[in-house]
Amino acid sequence: MDESIFEKEANLVKIESFIYPKRQEKIIEELRKFGIKEAYSFGPVNLSNVNVIGKGKSGIVVLLDRGKVIKIRRSDSPKLDMTDEAMRQIEAYPSSPKVHLYGNNFIIMDYIPGRPLTRMEKPEIKRDVIRRAFWLDYKRIRHKEITRPWKNILVTEARSYIVDYESSTYSYKPNNVARVVFALTRNAQLVSLYTSAKLSLGSLVDIVINS
Ligand SMILES: Nc1ncnc2c1ncn2[C@@H]1O[C@H](COP(=O)(O)OP(=O)(O)O)[C@@H](O)[C@H]1O
Ligand SMILES: [Mg+2]
Repeated sequence: MDESIFEKEANLVKIESFIYPKRQEKIIEELRKFGIKEAYSFGPVNLSNVNVIGKGKSGIVVLLDRGKVIKIRRSDSPKLDMTDEAMRQIEAYPSSPKVHLYGNNFIIMDYIPGRPLTRMEKPEIKRDVIRRAFWLDYKRIRHKEITRPWKNILVTEARSYIVDYESSTYSYKPNNVARVVFALTRNAQLVSLYTSAKLSLGSLVDIVINS
């Protein structure tokens, strides 16, 4: 990543500043226990006093270190424990960002310096997204919000990443490929040919990238 941000745009601040929306001792205690004391105020999203990389309904994503982010559980998250989320994310690797460490209230993972997926990607990215989704199907992980919103798929120069395993579950019908292809093409007929096994993954990919 661009090292210059560490001199110019990012300041190291106390980890407490990223507990949102309300301070919660339990979260702070756990982060301290793991030796996590500070993170960078950096990124496009502004919380009252600090900037962060992402803010969802269950977590706040903060730049922790060169190349790593920490997703901290929101104090108002309906989920009281992030362990299951972390375990599914580990299982989803390498479609997911690599997990380095996790606890009840946080997941430390690779920082993906990307942008959300759009419907107008070049063929290599479309192919890559479908293959990442296929890997989740193979692992029987159903990503509930794979395309809604698009910001759960991040795209870099090189490849795509599927993020946010908070609401994912194990399922014998994970249907990630089907849902991602439908989102990219809006072609229900094409998707049903694939789900009824009348079309191979390779042929599906060819049709999507040529459409
Ligand atoms: N590893 C990552 N690298 C860069 N940005 C990320 C990463 N993980 C999440 N984000 C950003 O943070 C946002 C919120 O994270 P997410 O896991 O979706 O939280 P929530 O479960 O609260 O929705 C994402 O939509 C994405 O924009
Ligand atoms: Mg999300």
